[in-house]
Amino acid sequence: MIDRDTYPLWNSPSMSAYLTTLSHENMLVEGRGVRVRDAAGRWFLDARSGLWNVTLGYDHPKVTEAIERQLRTLPFANLVGYGRPGAIAVEAAEALLPHLPVHMNKIRYCSNGSQAVETAVLLSRFLHHSGGEKERLAVFGMWHGYHGLGSGAGAVTGMSYVHDQSGPLLPEVHHVSGPFEGAAAPGAGLEQTITACGPERVAAVVLELVVGEGGHVLSDDYLHSLERFCRGHGIHLIVDEVSTGMGRTGAFTRTEQVGIRPDILTLGKGLSAGYAPLSAVVLSDEVSARLFDLDFEQKFLIGSTNDGHPLGLAASMAVIDTLADGGVLENVEAMGALLRQGLEEVAARHPQVAAVRGAGLMQAVEMVAASQDGALTGGAMADHLRLALEERGVLVSSLAMVPAIMIIPPLVVTASDVEEIVTTLDKALAEIRY
Ligand SMILES: Cc1ncc(COP(=O)(O)O)c(C=O)c1O
Repeated sequence: MIDRDTYPLWNSPSMSAYLTTLSHENMLVEGRGVRVRDAAGRWFLDARSGLWNVTLGYDHPKVTEAIERQLRTLPFANLVGYGRPGAIAVEAAEALLPHLPVHMNKIRYCSNGSQAVETAVLLSRFLHHSGGEKERLAVFGMWHGYHGLGSGAGAVTGMSYVHDQSGPLLPEVHHVSGPFEGAAAPGAGLEQTITACGPERVAAVVLELVVGEGGHVLSDDYLHSLERFCRGHGIHLIVDEVSTGMGRTGAFTRTEQVGIRPDILTLGKGLSAGYAPLSAVVLSDEVSARLFDLDFEQKFLIGSTNDGHPLGLAASMAVIDTLADGGVLENVEAMGALLRQGLEEVAARHPQVAAVRGAGLMQAVEMVAASQDGALTGGAMADHLRLALEERGVLVSSLAMVPAIMIIPPLVVTASDVEEIVTTLDKALAEIRY
């Protein structure tokens, strides 16, 4: 427990509760490979990759060297003004584009995932607006979809607490149940709701392809049908790959695995492997042509000082190189399958586990709705499980909206790391009294 008067930080959870769980010994001070060490000297297998972003582990030589080189050459250049972007921004985009869906050709770098989503949504509205469709404002997301926090991205995130905590956020943002929550037929929920509301009023649909809150994988059929629907009605399809992009499901993008053609794609997290902040908004040929054809007065004013920071871009070029050459994507496929198989075997032994779901190295273990004696909700069970794993040396995520833990290890985990995650989970589930 830490004294509130001397602790210099504040954070988003209730601070009084947060401080009771905190100690100086718990703080992380070092990272090596897929492991982190706390101030008390305990090492943990980081099966949540920092915050799902440290995809290549904590001491990747190529990434570290690239950042060091950039740091010594040009530690800062901006993307926002004066017509003198850092040359590295162009190099990084040229390195990334060949690995993105073939119909996408322009990249705008930002600093974080929330900002990328917000930029994508505002750009969609701007394009409709500047094309004379001033009524096309509505944006649709899914309940349980996570797209970040703040007044723009938080509005798109499907979490009512976030919508209510500080009063109104970005207006005209609506949510429907995802196809994974009992919709009558795949696609029906979103398409029917938009049809009822008037598709000519809808600017964009924003969604994840694998939902981070619970690991639901949206089916190819659902996504292809949604793409046709959006295209048929002039609605932008914004695919948020902040979590899934850059290798998480075994390819540079999940979009490419599914074979859909979004209008706008967002990337973040693994884009710079967590070594420096970076995110991106990628445009299709069609959308970028619209943007580039606009008159001088019709400019889209957006951006922030640190967008496309050279250190993040240097990291991203090393990440792209590593994913392209290093067998990492193959490792994700093999280790993802091994992890999934292990988790399913564990789930079969423990009735507290309701489901295992996910893709690649992004797997959810969902708990039943309540403990047998009814004393704990599924959410509390998931949180206990996260802490029990931590006590046993493995870090995982628990979630705000869904009673599940997420196992999202670095893309470079080995079979013995996966074995350690699975056996530790098995042990924790056997030892916890619910
Ligand atoms: C799918 C998705 N979109 C957006 C975000 C927001 O990214 P950031 O936390 O970098 O703002 C996240 C973060 O978890 C995410 O998972």
